[in-house]
Amino acid sequence: MPSPLADPVKLPCGLVLPNRLSKAAMAELMAKTNHPTNSLTDAYEQWSDGGWGSILTGNIQVDVDHMGSPFDPALHNEYKDAEKNADLVAQWKKYADACQKHGTPAIAQICHPGRQSFRVAGRRGMFAQTLAPSAVPINLGDGYIERFIGCLAWTTPKEMTSQDVERVIGQFVDTARLMADAGFSGIELHGAHGYLIDQFLNEKTNLRTDKYGGTPTKRARFVLEILTQTRKVVPPTFCIGIKLNSADHSSATFEETMTQIALLSEAGIDFMEISGGSYENPAMMGYAKTPSARTAAREAFFLEFSKEVRTRHPGLVLMLTGGFRSRAGAEAAVRDGACDLVGIGRPAAVDPKFPRLLLDESVEDERACLPLNKAPVPWYTRFLPAYLIGAGAESVSSLMLWLRVGLTFWQTYYAAQIQRLAKGLIAFAPPL
Ligand SMILES: Cc1cc2nc3c(=O)[nH]c(=O)nc-3n(C[C@H](O)[C@H](O)[C@H](O)COP(=O)(O)O)c2cc1C
Repeated sequence: MPSPLADPVKLPCGLVLPNRLSKAAMAELMAKTNHPTNSLTDAYEQWSDGGWGSILTGNIQVDVDHMGSPFDPALHNEYKDAEKNADLVAQWKKYADACQKHGTPAIAQICHPGRQSFRVAGRRGMFAQTLAPSAVPINLGDGYIERFIGCLAWTTPKEMTSQDVERVIGQFVDTARLMADAGFSGIELHGAHGYLIDQFLNEKTNLRTDKYGGTPTKRARFVLEILTQTRKVVPPTFCIGIKLNSADHSSATFEETMTQIALLSEAGIDFMEISGGSYENPAMMGYAKTPSARTAAREAFFLEFSKEVRTRHPGLVLMLTGGFRSRAGAEAAVRDGACDLVGIGRPAAVDPKFPRLLLDESVEDERACLPLNKAPVPWYTRFLPAYLIGAGAESVSSLMLWLRVGLTFWQTYYAAQIQRLAKGLIAFAPPL
């Protein structure tokens, strides 16, 4: 029987994804000048030929002053239009073309880290404040070490004025326009993992009393304005999706999260990717501070939440990301109705052509998988909280990145594998 993973999926904007397997967003740490580089495009050429249904880029920052790492690609100045910024468009077009070389639609993930921007990530200077809906500093924990690391890595953010809010909305819209002009098939707003959009949505980080805070609806206003303003300036066939958190809701705010999802659905979002966690609690990497027994029992991290969204919004195209390692696990999630699209991160960094294995009917289920061990961590991190170190070693966007500044070793396990792909080398799974 053909796998349901091979089915095409049509988004409301009309974009057709040839199958259900999406390469998830992974920051590559390769944009040394904060522009797309040749090595970045070389890596994406590997994925472009991998049989994916869609390719999500790693995070692209909407403001070069506020970044997730010093090596993210970013928008440096106001974007005027394709004519006035012809060189810039040509540079980004190389990136879009590399991703789409073999016909797979590529979706650019656009992002602002807000309070999670490290001191050294962004051109604003080490002591300049980050921006956030409210001046709520990062809290890694109450221990001395966690507090010390928190102060070392981040400033207390500045509460955004209404002019700041307007400017950042404009930066998102400008970046989306640039991506459309460069030839990407769509954008994904990064509204998960504790980044700025998530900070606005979340009552713990948004204490505002103006029109952007106070109720779930008002907290969603920031992202809804980005969405509606972007729609007006990109072609109707250009897809706009969002990555959203599931795991950060407590039982008290579960319904509030659902209210915000309903607003996004009504506003015509093309797809919603469900993930979870933040720097303070990296659940997206499978390192939640308090992992649930239900999560441990199955392959996907956020399956129950996704099913709940599906029940309430049957027409919303859902992508579920986190933990998928096998055809059987991915098919079960689709057959159960938990999602339409399966997002795959770490396995894609080790095997850029992973979909070819999953979709090959001649390969039995038992072999259609890529189990991954936890990534190795250096000895000197032994005294730090395990949940931070494990997640940091595997992603770029965490504490590990900061700890390695002293060694000028801006690498993490999976970013290093992506960099090997860019050089045409074989990538490796973490050793057993
Ligand atoms: C090296 C690396 C970089 C990542 N960068 C991003 C990113 O830029 N944007 C994002 O939304 N998620 C990012 N993530 C999270 C992944 O998109 C995904 O949610 C997570 O890895 C869980 O999926 P997996 O279990 O298939 O790896 C990153 C993960 C890794 C391993």
